[in-house]
Amino acid sequence: MRTLTLHKADVFNGYLVLVNRAHPIKPSRLKSANTLAPCLAMNDEVLLERRAAASLNQLIDEVGCRKQIVSVSGFRSKEEQEALFSNSLRQNGRTFTEQYVAYPNCSEHQTGLAIDLGENQDVIDFIRPSFPYTGVFAQFRTLAPDYGFIERYGQGKEAITGISHEPWHFRYVGYPHAKIIKQHDFCLEEYIQFLYDYPFSGQPYTFSERETQFDISYIRAIEPFTTIEIPERSLYQLSGNNVDGFILTTWSAPQ
Ligand code: DAL
Ligand code: ZN
Repeated sequence: MRTLTLHKADVFNGYLVLVNRAHPIKPSRLKSANTLAPCLAMNDEVLLERRAAASLNQLIDEVGCRKQIVSVSGFRSKEEQEALFSNSLRQNGRTFTEQYVAYPNCSEHQTGLAIDLGENQDVIDFIRPSFPYTGVFAQFRTLAPDYGFIERYGQGKEAITGISHEPWHFRYVGYPHAKIIKQHDFCLEEYIQFLYDYPFSGQPYTFSERETQFDISYIRAIEPFTTIEIPERSLYQLSGNNVDGFILTTWSAPQ
């Protein structure tokens, strides 16, 4: 068996962090700027976490929509989110702003894991870019979960996410989590809640695709750290949930 050590401070790190008004970003998370990469092309000024950027580029190539889709807003510093929020308050009022702009430190954009994408047009709305449900945009949405992306703020989920429907905002959570979220029509809040039913001490949630079985379980964080044992040959990924624990994903290496 292999022993993994899970430090409580890492609850706030990883691809599955839930960031919303109830669960702001922790200051330690804000140091992640060194893992950023250009979003859609080498000279793109819009940045995304390195692995999310690589996945997005693969997805765009698979769909063949590099000319039709543009990156509008990726990583934002706390100062940028503050400026966006206060400018929108002035220009659009509080109701609109709270619907479409997260409070500073409550925005996924500060993690580098969220990207606003827009239809390539002469005029692009920075807060609400157009990203239709037809053509290449529909193809993009269909394939996005295979590349670890979810449409984060779905219609009908407003009461849970606290944000209005945002067809342009995609969040990287990684594979296979994006596929499971899509399959169940969850928003990220619902998925994090769902995983509490699969504690590490019991049966994991299993997801199988292309002859690989993924076992997913929740581990409550203990101060200052907790240790768990997983099979020696398992591949694994760990992420904090930004609430109170970790999500462990294990799978077997192909034979
Ligand atoms: N538009 C999303 C909610 C943000 O500002 O993070
Ligand atoms: Zn966004």
